[in-house]
Amino acid sequence: MTQQQAEVHDAGSVQPHDRLGRPLRDLRISVTDRCNFRCRYCMPREVFGSDWEFLPRDEILSFEEIARLSRIFAAQGVRKLRLTGGEPLLRSGLPALVRMLRAIDGVDIALTTNGSLLTAQASALASAGLRRITVSLDSLDDTVFRSMNDAGFGVDRVLEGIAACSAAGLPVKINCVVKRGVNEHTVVELARWARERGHILRFIEYMDVGHSNGWRLDDVVPGAEIVHRISTEMPLEPVDPNYRGEVARRWRYSGGSGEIGVITSVTQPFCGDCTRARLSADGKLYTCLFAAQGTDMRARVRDGSSDDSIAAIVREVWLAREDRYSELRSAATDGLDKKVEMSYIGG
Ligand code: GTP
Ligand code: 5AD
Ligand code: SF4
Ligand code: SF4
Repeated sequence: MTQQQAEVHDAGSVQPHDRLGRPLRDLRISVTDRCNFRCRYCMPREVFGSDWEFLPRDEILSFEEIARLSRIFAAQGVRKLRLTGGEPLLRSGLPALVRMLRAIDGVDIALTTNGSLLTAQASALASAGLRRITVSLDSLDDTVFRSMNDAGFGVDRVLEGIAACSAAGLPVKINCVVKRGVNEHTVVELARWARERGHILRFIEYMDVGHSNGWRLDDVVPGAEIVHRISTEMPLEPVDPNYRGEVARRWRYSGGSGEIGVITSVTQPFCGDCTRARLSADGKLYTCLFAAQGTDMRARVRDGSSDDSIAAIVREVWLAREDRYSELRSAATDGLDKKVEMSYIGG
């Protein structure tokens, strides 16, 4: 292990750094592979139809297993746990998991949701100790919103869920995936709405996650174009990142409150600072959003392995990591390496 690959932290334990010198800081935990939306950019109905086989219950990590792994990751330097899905609020009793994770010292807990079930669950999540929440909201225009989620959900339900969070004292961030010709004409309206309500809004460039969404570079609206579009109505100025490795590039409104961010994984990749590991609902550990293969942690959790031996696997995986898919993809779209997209599948 090189000096750069290890760093002493906390009570003398050694924090792993990967081959590109990046520490392990965040763990994104998928608690279910199911979703009640069929966003065309994520789970298109033609692929995720009635014959799609979701994970059976016994293959999904229990809350106790997730909490145990989270403690092990926290001891390796993880400081943020983000619960994701599919749609995480479809997993029953989720507040109980939040409560278990809250007991881990020194970690921030966040949740990313489509917001459709929030009206019923916001207050239980807040009581369980969740301190902030990110809601996906691609447009305020009901027709656009329905066509993007392709599951008959009107935007009002999500807006109610967001209001329920505010009422429960939970700060809400908004994520908006922008697709060319689909919702790009509604971004200024969304920005104005978020600004009036004090929500930080982040626009995400449409990414080639997985292999089923028919991604084309032509469908991507560059973050710079979104900033320009909003700035012509409400002038913006750049702001420094909150922390090293923040995925969003921040902008604030000149002469007033409010900020937006753009997540430009296609046009300006941020792999150089990427400190995120991902755990799938069935317990596979991935070191990149675009990785094709994961490491089976569930088998270790269920075969009587000790915490120390599981920690050793986490370290081994992280020390070997050299993923930087988005940077390579940019090279590929410049015609430098056309093979990379072919060899990386999955999401
Ligand atoms: P906070 O700064 O704590 O709010 O978290 P965050 O920005 O990491 O959270 P969030 O889940 O809202 O991330 C926003 C979106 O950015 C994700 O949903 C992804 O679409 C994208 N994203 C997050 N992490 C990565 C990453 O490692 N690689 C790529 N390519 N995209 C990412
Ligand atoms: N490109 C960009 N963002 C995506 N998301 C899901 N699929 C994609 C994609 N192909 C976003 C969701 C949500 C977050 C978890 O990821 O809209 O905000
Ligand atoms: Fe569901 Fe989120 Fe994917 Fe949409 S983006 S289908 S809400 S998991
Ligand atoms: Fe991290 Fe992979 Fe995303 Fe790059 S492409 S920022 S390495 S998850």
